[in-house]
Amino acid sequence: MPGELTFRRIDASDAEAFQRCAAIAFHTPCDSPQLERFRHLAEWDRTLAAFDGDELVGSSAAYSHKLSVPGGELPSAGITWIAVLPTHRRRGILTRMLDEQIAAARARGEPLAALWASEGAIYGRFGFGPAASRARFTVATGAGAPPREAHAGARPLRIRFHELAGARPLLGPLFERVRAQRPGMPTRTDDWWDRRVLTDAAAERDGATDKRLVVVHGDDGAADGYAIYRERGEEPAVTLELLELIAPADDAAAALWRFLCSVDLVARLDAPNRPLDDPLPLLFADLRRARVSELGDSLWVRLLDVRAALEGRAWAADARLTLALRDDRIAQNAGSWSVEIAGGAARVRPAPPGSAPDLSTDVRWLGAAYLGGTPLTRLVAGGLVEEHTSGAAERLDVALHVPRAPWAPEVF
Ligand SMILES: CC(C)(COP(=O)(O)OP(=O)(O)OC[C@H]1O[C@@H](n2cnc3c(N)ncnc32)[C@H](O)[C@@H]1OP(=O)(O)O)[C@@H](O)C(=O)NCCC(=O)NCCS
Repeated sequence: MPGELTFRRIDASDAEAFQRCAAIAFHTPCDSPQLERFRHLAEWDRTLAAFDGDELVGSSAAYSHKLSVPGGELPSAGITWIAVLPTHRRRGILTRMLDEQIAAARARGEPLAALWASEGAIYGRFGFGPAASRARFTVATGAGAPPREAHAGARPLRIRFHELAGARPLLGPLFERVRAQRPGMPTRTDDWWDRRVLTDAAAERDGATDKRLVVVHGDDGAADGYAIYRERGEEPAVTLELLELIAPADDAAAALWRFLCSVDLVARLDAPNRPLDDPLPLLFADLRRARVSELGDSLWVRLLDVRAALEGRAWAADARLTLALRDDRIAQNAGSWSVEIAGGAARVRPAPPGSAPDLSTDVRWLGAAYLGGTPLTRLVAGGLVEEHTSGAAERLDVALHVPRAPWAPEVF
């Protein structure tokens, strides 16, 4: 009946209606390559829609990711394609779809959910916290010396162009090595590589060149890193737009930056999504050459099972405390938890009745701190975590510490 909302899983036969809804909500053409691609990447048993009569008016989907966390990886629901038609907004459709996606992910035993938010005010109420950040670096490449040889005396490295086609076996292992170094990175399936990273539809170039792939090789010929970029504009105002730079070895990353910053006839390098601790500015004699022109949240993390999430990551120092957690949507998370961290591992149990908490907060802020990118002391300063025992936040921060900042390499 028109006006009556129903919710159900959909399948490939509903793909067109799903695309229409998402396209209208995101202001893109219905036949955009991104939407076309979703038909192939969708896990239809995780794709849930809202209907008003026969009309699909709300869309939501999840990918079965494994997310890199300190010391390893954990199953994580990669929430995506959340959209509600403007004719049906603010009637609780997002709320119903997300609650169902969260319940389904919990039923699958996923301790985490993660997403990229189109706006900062949407997902906190659902228990998601901003857990990783991105820096946009802008470099005036034509205006001075390129980055210095950062690793003097190191092995010689060679950079070569490669075709996109067939590059997956070369790039995949490098990506995995960086995932082992940095929290916040979801797994990529073969399809994801082929249909997203290594595809290059003309309709997605928006006036820029096709994708260029360069690979850095060591003396032994093995690949040590790669960068994918495009160029935009006309000489002498060409901008080199970095799409991805992945290099598990620091000298290989520096060699790629040196290359990217010294291509002839290029005036500017634009690297819109880099980790906050990227060494790029340090490679220049004048570190202001690489300017952070934008800073923002990237991955939002939701702890679906607090105990499994905390016990599923590695810890940097011992600590012992009682944590009082609020969670309006997942009753099993709410309450007082006794957290004992020793030898790099956490043991999390319900706290004995009457235990006084050292820290209390909402689950979203534990999600924000979980990957080690958002210090609890900052959340205390912002009034988002209450510290009942002096020094408790600092102690837990030392245990949460990660050597490399969390980073999510791409929007999903
Ligand atoms: C964002 C969007 C999915 C919200 O869907 P919706 O069905 O209108 O959301 P709901 O009715 O379930 O809203 C639940 C609550 O969140 C709030 N909320 C929803 N969207 C919000 C926004 N963009 N900013 C701030 N608050 C928002 C609502 O006001 C409501 O609060 P209340 O319970 O206090 O009244 C929808 O507006 C949309 O499709 N936007 C364009 C596409 C988009 O940005 N998608 C998200 C991709 S990450």
